[in-house]
Parts: sequence; C-alpha cells; structure tokens
Amino acid sequence: MENNTIEIAYQVFSSMEELPQDDRRLMEKAQEASLSAYAIYSRFRVGAAVLLSNGKVVLGNNQENVSYTEGLCAERVALFSAMAQYPQEQVKSIAIYGNPMNYTLNSAVTPCGACRQVLMECEQRGKSNIRILCGGTTGEILAIESVKHLLPFHFNM
Ligand code: THU
Repeated sequence: MENNTIEIAYQVFSSMEELPQDDRRLMEKAQEASLSAYAIYSRFRVGAAVLLSNGKVVLGNNQENVSYTEGLCAERVALFSAMAQYPQEQVKSIAIYGNPMNYTLNSAVTPCGACRQVLMECEQRGKSNIRILCGGTTGEILAIESVKHLLPFHFNM
C-alpha cells in the first residue's frame, strides 16, 4: 500500500481587468451570454463562451425546465453546440461567468461534475489542452490550464 497525493495547478487573477486580453474578451462574451440564460427557476444565470481552433466563439447559457433535471448547464449547451457545428475543430478555451439575478456573486463559478466529464471528452477528442476561465459577477477569476486538473480519476473505458 502507498499513500498518494494529487496537486492541481491554477492561476488566480484579481479581476477581469487583470486577465490577458484574449481571455478577457472571451469572458466578456460569456458575460453577454449569461444575460440570455433561461434560469427562471434558480434565477442563477450562467454564460459560457467556447473558443475553437478556427477562431470561432460559440456561446451557451443555462437552459432550465419545469421538470428540473432536464435543464442543462451553460457549459454543456456551449460545448455540444460547438461540436455539433464544428466537429473537426479543437476546443481551445472556455470562459464561464456566473451572474445571479438577485445578488452579486463575488466568487468564480466552476463547472459541475457532469460538465467536467464533457469537457474531458472534448479535450481528449481535440488532443489539446482546454484552458478554463471561471468568473462571477465580481471578484477573482480562476484559470485552469487543462481539464485534467479539474477531474482527476475521470471515467474512461
Ligand atoms: N449551472 C451552470 O449552468 N453551470 C455551472 O457550472 C453550475 C450550474 C446552472 C444549472 C442551473 O440552471 C443553475 O446554474 C443553478 O444550479
């Protein structure tokens, strides 16, 4: 028997203004996408912007349903839409922006477990790391260089 530890690496930016220009642009698109979220049940809007290897940006936002479990997160809406439209392209980065309707979120929204699994598949499919940018209405922005940091021991067959 041996005891092992896994470390994960990520960067912290103090605000949107501190982000490199390309990241900032992508986060602004995610912010814009959050405004059209259909989040009438949770009132927790999330926007996502996916940058592809051909330079296209595909947007997504959370889509809720009266049958709650049928709703879908912003990240998966954006990723599946991107892969449906541009199946040959690689996903280079994704920006995620949490924008609740009733309060100011002062921390970054990070992808849920299911979205991490889908991100992992996109990373493997494209054979290229996906940079993940996570933000909230205000506060710090997190940047993670690869889905591998977010999902150790991910499912695989
Ligand atoms: N949600 C996302 O869209 N992305 C996340 O990373 C976390 C949660 C959505 C799902 C649901 O519509 C609402 O936020 C509240 O959980």
